[in-house]
Amino acid sequence: MLKVGVIGVGSISEFHIKPYLKHPEVELVALCDLNEERLHQKAGQYGVSAVYNDYRNLLENDEIEAVSICTWNNTHAEIAIAALEAGKHVLVEKPLSMTVEEAIAVETAAKQSGKIAQIGFVRRFGDNAKVLKKFIGSGDLGEIYYAKASILRRLGNPGGWFSDKKLSGGGPLIDLGVHVIDLCWYLMGKPKAVTVTGNVYSRLGNRSHIENLDYYKAADFDPSRNNVEDLTNALIRFENGATLYVDVSFTLHAKQDKISVKLYGDKGGAEVEPQLEIISEKHNTILNMAPQIDHRTLHISNAFEAEIFHFIDCCQGNSTLLAPVSDGVEIMKILSAVYESAEKGTEVTLAND
Ligand SMILES: NC(=O)c1ccc[n+]([C@@H]2O[C@H](COP(=O)([O-])OP(=O)(O)OC[C@H]3O[C@@H](n4cnc5c(N)ncnc54)[C@H](O)[C@@H]3O)[C@@H](O)[C@H]2O)c1
Repeated sequence: MLKVGVIGVGSISEFHIKPYLKHPEVELVALCDLNEERLHQKAGQYGVSAVYNDYRNLLENDEIEAVSICTWNNTHAEIAIAALEAGKHVLVEKPLSMTVEEAIAVETAAKQSGKIAQIGFVRRFGDNAKVLKKFIGSGDLGEIYYAKASILRRLGNPGGWFSDKKLSGGGPLIDLGVHVIDLCWYLMGKPKAVTVTGNVYSRLGNRSHIENLDYYKAADFDPSRNNVEDLTNALIRFENGATLYVDVSFTLHAKQDKISVKLYGDKGGAEVEPQLEIISEKHNTILNMAPQIDHRTLHISNAFEAEIFHFIDCCQGNSTLLAPVSDGVEIMKILSAVYESAEKGTEVTLAND
């Protein structure tokens, strides 16, 4: 039995806790949260007896072998490093950190500990991404030279810590952009990013005056806090000449929310979202192919279960990491460069190492 703990038991922790409880070779033995009431409510709900307010006390519990870190972004690096130093395997939610320096420190701690250190790039574990990865791996798209990704929410600033730059590191770019930038980068074969041009806009605020429309909210929702951007767009150029264009928003005067992730290669193309579709040509005819799979769009609980089960497999030595923290570092470099470019109003060149 692999004994695990979950640090941070707010909204997303449910998607970690449930797969841990479901897995036959895992025992969820401890929970931790700063919020006493939430901690005890979750412990009661899931029958977990060891509860901690301070993650350091949880890490002192020797029976715990692995932890999920589901706290605010500003604590990811600190807790991940402490957990690795305490000899625990770590699954840390995205983004890996708020800065590149912190991200590199997590990677270094992971190397030194020899423990499993996985970043929560859950979209890699969706059936749509997994199926497409096989097609790409077999050369069906040829060389992918352009990708385009959008998550445009007309109303969807989660509030609370998400909207406090000191705790989140930024707005829709670091929260939503991180997912689709990673997904494209991963499906493109992880090319090295060389230049980034980014723009951020804070024009609408969080639109918390809008009525009768529901949206994802932090466990401690507080609409009065908001100093993050509403909209970011960016053009990322890679060493192989490929480019990725991305735009993401928390609020926008858009007709409706939209998610789209598209990849274009010299032999074929693909749409991962809003649903998997593979585009090709044969006998002088263009083919739009709809893979017959249960979930052509991201099925969030299935993808989380696949992510957590993969983490467990890796902890047990049965699999190699599909989303190592080193990938979290590369994505942090891109995210930081987007914010830097927006601030300077110029293109930013990424350091070559
Ligand atoms: N993979 C995904 O699709 C996805 C989706 C949503 C959120 N997330 C990530 O998960 C993390 C949590 O997001 P959320 O929506 O659950 O937020 P949340 O506000 O609902 O929950 C966060 C919890 O962490 C607790 N916490 C914060 N700092 C702590 C600390 N130092 N020690 C112990 N507890 C602490 C808070 O009290 C709160 O209960 C974020 O990093 C977010 O980016 C990932």
